[in-house]
Amino acid sequence: VPRVTTRTLQKMRDNDDPITMLTAYDYPMARLLDQAGVDVLLVGDSMGMVVQGHDTTLPVTMDQMIYHAEMVGRATDRAMVVVDLPFPEGQIGIERSIEAGVRVLKDTRCHAVKLEGGAEQADRIAAMVTAGIPVMAHVGLRPQNIHVDGGYRLQRDTDRLVADARAAEQAGAFAVLIECVPSSVAAAITDAVKVPTIGIGAGSAVSGQVLVTHDILGLTTGYTPKFTRNFAEIGKAIGQAAADYVAQVKSGGFPSKSESFS
Ligand code: KIV
Ligand code: NA
Repeated sequence: VPRVTTRTLQKMRDNDDPITMLTAYDYPMARLLDQAGVDVLLVGDSMGMVVQGHDTTLPVTMDQMIYHAEMVGRATDRAMVVVDLPFPEGQIGIERSIEAGVRVLKDTRCHAVKLEGGAEQADRIAAMVTAGIPVMAHVGLRPQNIHVDGGYRLQRDTDRLVADARAAEQAGAFAVLIECVPSSVAAAITDAVKVPTIGIGAGSAVSGQVLVTHDILGLTTGYTPKFTRNFAEIGKAIGQAAADYVAQVKSGGFPSKSESFS
């Protein structure tokens, strides 16, 4: 099967063929998602919350992103793999962002990076694309900005969000991720650009959807946002399996003769 590329995604947008994207942080999950036909895998800095147990994405380091991107890159045959730039690789010197993107392309088998921000990131995006690093922009709710914004909140400023997406496209971004905006705003952004738009909490008038895999599988403990959906209850299945194992060992039911060497 041919690899999904930036060109594939553009064709999908042009043909109104919805793009599917999910997060992945390790080899077995990435393999399953790739084989299920997910078009794009995101090694998201959401792993700070759903894998590492932090309250925000801010503690995640570039070395950790590379470590996880290697596992996901090795696991996929078809999906395009996008790697988040963790805080503050996309906030301070542009050279630093280019170096981070170069690490992704040289040291993992992944294909692109994602960067939070729009208009104020145009120079950075242009410099990275010039250096040969494909960039997905991320507008709307930007989790790395949480302490400036004072919380995770719906983003409603249509003019600003449209300007952000246009500036990112103009700078050479191959796609724009839109997080947590009213459906009408996401539709306006999608109308304003030609590149694919990928929504999370952005309604259906976009080129594709992304969700956090741990959220849709029931692996996230505690709060999950309104815009996610549970497609499976894997967390419950794991808890049940572990409880069965404990009971079997305690009762002498495991291991059996056939599970032992004579
Ligand atoms: O890190 C992440 O999972 C994201 C989401 C928007 C999908 O950036
Ligand atoms: Na992210």
